[in-house]
Amino acid sequence: MKKFAAPLLLMMISLLVFVMVSFLLNSRNGIEASADSNNIDHVRFKVTDEQPYRTSYHFQPPQNWMNDPNAPMYYKGVYHFFYQHNPYAATFGDKIIWAHSVSSDLINWIHLNNALEPSEPYDINSCWSGSATILPGEKPVILYTGIDHNKHQVQNLATPKNLSDPFLREWTKHPQNPLITPPNEVEEDEFRDPTTAWHGKDGKWRVIIGAQKGNKGKAILYQSEDFVNWTVSPKPFFATDNTRVIECPDFFPVSINSTNGVDTSVENSSVRHVLKISYQSKQHDYYFLGKYVSDKENFVPDEKFTGTSKDLRFDYGKFYASKSFFDYAKNRRILWGWVNESDTTQDDIEKGWAGLQTIPRKVWLDKSGNRLMQWPIEEVENLRGSKISITGKKLEGGSTLEVSGITASQADVEVLFELPDLESGELLEDPSEVDPQLLCSKPYASRNGQIGPFGLLALASKDLTEQTAVFFQIYKTPNRYLCLMCSDHSRSSLRQDLDKTTYGTFFDIDPNLKEISLRSLIDKSIIESFGDEGRASITSRVYPLLAIKRDAHLYVFNNGSQSVIISKLNAWSLKQAEIGLEGSIRCA
Ligand code: FRU
Repeated sequence: MKKFAAPLLLMMISLLVFVMVSFLLNSRNGIEASADSNNIDHVRFKVTDEQPYRTSYHFQPPQNWMNDPNAPMYYKGVYHFFYQHNPYAATFGDKIIWAHSVSSDLINWIHLNNALEPSEPYDINSCWSGSATILPGEKPVILYTGIDHNKHQVQNLATPKNLSDPFLREWTKHPQNPLITPPNEVEEDEFRDPTTAWHGKDGKWRVIIGAQKGNKGKAILYQSEDFVNWTVSPKPFFATDNTRVIECPDFFPVSINSTNGVDTSVENSSVRHVLKISYQSKQHDYYFLGKYVSDKENFVPDEKFTGTSKDLRFDYGKFYASKSFFDYAKNRRILWGWVNESDTTQDDIEKGWAGLQTIPRKVWLDKSGNRLMQWPIEEVENLRGSKISITGKKLEGGSTLEVSGITASQADVEVLFELPDLESGELLEDPSEVDPQLLCSKPYASRNGQIGPFGLLALASKDLTEQTAVFFQIYKTPNRYLCLMCSDHSRSSLRQDLDKTTYGTFFDIDPNLKEISLRSLIDKSIIESFGDEGRASITSRVYPLLAIKRDAHLYVFNNGSQSVIISKLNAWSLKQAEIGLEGSIRCA
């Protein structure tokens, strides 16, 4: 018997190697395609341990579901980030908790124990979204929504157990909770998400809370002298008809003459105010610039909400329930946004996770005073590795150029295009009649225009059957020039079972504009793009079958009849961020 053991073992090993090699050849980097690309209807993917869509430098919990960013803050040298989390599944659940992570640079994160979990009658059915306020004497507090034993939404206070712990690991719920119960004029199960509080000139604290009555969306103002006893203001701070519930309001000042941020309570002639509203019915974050006068309890937005593509949004892609904070370490206002999946719930269960956060963005008021600007925080640049540059390269109409030499599935790309005379752009008689998202939804990237479409093909397969086109097209109208910015997802994956909605927006451009910039942060299944130095942004979730890992490519393209010039392109491979459990990584 012994005699036969060695050859038998050898045979078994060869068989095993054969089976493994055939499996690897048939399954591309952890994805099994059960049909060829001519029969894409039946292409089905199966996630293996390799997780081709799990991101490398975007914030994610170790596993399971995440939605809204909560209470971001900077406190004594440490950035804190809390988030809505279902620790039990990769889907939303009925026991949502506040998870908690800390960082020294907003890119590398340590996951701590949960900060708030359902435990009391006033939050027994979930701890929903809320915000942090730093009270005088450097005392951070949290206001959050509890889903109580009657499934009513109430507002609760929590304070750190030990202020000398820089990680603020443990939180104590206030004995007088709930501090705020739904007032008469709102529905008891649609009253949530308190903002960071601000101090009025009269010394009283103010917060607003999202709500609904019938079809109306409301932001209800409360005032307090001691942060514990709150009085409702007789008239809503803001209300819109036919929108239904307002979620996650955010209210903050922006400097008129500086890109620096300011603290939430600043109210003087050097600032304007921003009210951000998340409409659940639209799943978009809209913002209003306007004038705020605390002694009149009055916020007057410059423009009314129209429910059309004219309304200003932080991001024209997948981005919701965002929250900002003032980072006094670097004098900037920082914005976080939740980016949901675009695949199926079944896929999320198979992946074992769902939900990302954007790379935190610096926000400031554009010189025009008409819109906000956004840019990924500078700290993300510390992840930059190998670099490729292209300068002064003419892109004739109909041409495509590969940007090779970087990890195209995990990259930071900045490109500056030199434009031809804007007069040669296509004429758009009445832009108010045109929905930019619909315009982008035509098979656009492949269509010929005048100035554009030109831009990037990200997460593209070598043969370009898969590609996410992020691009511009320049239009002239009777009285101004417009840029259309799109992210076309129609060819983002050979898979059919995905939400492939194409996103787009218009923004005004300077009549003397000679160059326009596009920056994209690419990370496996997310692309965050910023047009014209941050004047517009679009976030995409895509799940390519072929264009993953080493098989992902990046191209620059121009489908316009006019040529454009790549005056400068810099692209970097990005390293993985260190995001892990306490003890498993060092804080960078
Ligand atoms: C927004 C939201 C909030 C709520 C939370 C629950 O995405 O619905 O209004 O507090 O998520 O997780």
